[in-house]
Amino acid sequence: MPAPADGGRRSALMDTGARVCDFLSDMDSTVSQNEPLAPHTWFGLGGAARWMVQPRSIEQLCTIVRRCRQRDVPWRVLGLGANLLVSDDGVDGVVVRLKSPVFRTIRWGSARDGRASNLKVIVGGGTDMNRLSLEAARHGLSGLECMGGIPGTLGGIVRMNAGGRLGAIENVVHNVTVVDSTGLLRTLSNDDVGFQYRRTNLGDSIVVEATLALSPDDPLRVRERLLQIWNDKKRSQPMADYSAGCVFKNPPGHSAGQLIDQAGLKGRTVGGASVSRIHANFIVAKEGATARDVLTLIGIIRREVAAQFGIELELEIEVWGPRMMYASGPMEQTQLA
Ligand code: EPU
Repeated sequence: MPAPADGGRRSALMDTGARVCDFLSDMDSTVSQNEPLAPHTWFGLGGAARWMVQPRSIEQLCTIVRRCRQRDVPWRVLGLGANLLVSDDGVDGVVVRLKSPVFRTIRWGSARDGRASNLKVIVGGGTDMNRLSLEAARHGLSGLECMGGIPGTLGGIVRMNAGGRLGAIENVVHNVTVVDSTGLLRTLSNDDVGFQYRRTNLGDSIVVEATLALSPDDPLRVRERLLQIWNDKKRSQPMADYSAGCVFKNPPGHSAGQLIDQAGLKGRTVGGASVSRIHANFIVAKEGATARDVLTLIGIIRREVAAQFGIELELEIEVWGPRMMYASGPMEQTQLA
């Protein structure tokens, strides 16, 4: 997978002149305005965020959420941008990045959690999952091998219950600490998070940290399993192209990639966006692609698969429109496209 592109695409929002950033003015050094989002996403597409904020502490994060709420300004967290499509018009809200060290620490536990086989590890929401899974292997801790090759921050991965055929993050989450939509810090049990296949009920809550329960194992064996899964992905997925991973969730009992392939859509292209010839559940973006190309292609795929197999594909990626009303249902998807 390449580094995010320098999109250089300026959104309509940037040309209308920025509103005075008064409500975050006392956080000056951590706020930027009209920040292009394309370089922060793996698709390398889309417009700018009106505000991007990098809080330095949990207290500052709580304040940001409270103020956004008071002013009816939408907010979202941007992790590694690996599962995200930003609209060409950008985002008229606050994009939060958890890059400060306070959100990226890993505390390797020594106390057992009651079950002799488990060890607790407390991980900041902004922590890179690939770093975490490699370090877990070095510590001789098993449970994150199924995350091999899945790009993202722990917070993003918990939020969408990311995983693969061999398991998802829900299997190892003990509890999650979030700043909720009212700006309060809360700890949620695994059950409270409402994990389902590639979804949770976290909504506007921001994952500050999670406690994971991992099992002691031989470091070399853990590392071997992790790299094996990583290598399988390199063989079967277009890792060298600009994409956002699997675009659609697998419908119950089916593989979205197989359905799209069987519908004859591999290679179907709109502008600079194409259905990957390596794995049909990936849309790859070439130089010159726009978010609209991707959204139009998404619409074509959904219609074709529905027409041929009677199955409605649901988006796995997040789509951020100007008010961040990201898509989940068919109607919203059509409107965004
Ligand atoms: N297939 C095709 N044509 C294609 C792609 C796949 O016929 O173009 C067939 C495969 O031959 C296989 C079946 O579809 O028989 C399933 O394919 P695959 O093994 O690639 O798994 P998947 O269900 O498409 C899921 C996750 C991936 C994860 C892999 C491996 C979802 C939506 N996708 O893919 O996750 O990497 O398993 O564990 O759950 C992601 O979430 O972004 C992602 C890529």
